[in-house]
Amino acid sequence: MNLVLVGFMASGKTSVGRRVARRLGYRFLDTDHFIEGELGCTIAELFATKGEAHFRDLESRLARRLSALTNTVIATGGGMPVTPGNFDALRKAGVVVFLDADIDEIVQRLERDTRRPKVQGGELREKALRLHGERVPVYRQADVVVDTKGKSVNRVAGDLIRLAAEAMHAREAAEAAHAREAAQEPALPPEPKSQPA
Ligand code: S3P
Repeated sequence: MNLVLVGFMASGKTSVGRRVARRLGYRFLDTDHFIEGELGCTIAELFATKGEAHFRDLESRLARRLSALTNTVIATGGGMPVTPGNFDALRKAGVVVFLDADIDEIVQRLERDTRRPKVQGGELREKALRLHGERVPVYRQADVVVDTKGKSVNRVAGDLIRLAAEAMHAREAAEAAHAREAAQEPALPPEPKSQPA
């Protein structure tokens, strides 16, 4: 079973994800770092040379590959769950956890940032507020919501592990029941032989 962290830019997905992975003895994967590693360039360079649509395409393909992982905490890029079809792919990969961060804390962190192309080039607060407003309803479809406001990474990691445990157990029980049902289902009849012409 995997844990899939979603949320806005600078909401702590990577730092919290690493901490949770360490505590649970899970592997850790950050989708942005993974794409950067595969391409050998940064996300900012990718946006600049190939455009955002190309990045979103790579991101959507990666979202569909995540269900092959096991015992991994996955930190997703802030836009990944928003592209149509991706949220379902993330749910297939594991229990989805929304890190709900305070917009003022986010803006403060982004003010020191030069790496995130979606919020470069002035009017940071307006851009962040608009995107945040559009995306939060999507993030809220997560199985678990963790409030991060004013909390340390350690505290958020602890809250996340506690809140996600129940959702993980429920998911595991449902999957086990499904597997048992499938094992009891009669085998499919053989394919009809094609008629000689
Ligand atoms: C993006 C968020 C970034 C990265 C890219 C686009 C977004 O990831 O994927 O810059 O559209 O919100 P983080 O959420 O890790 O900053």
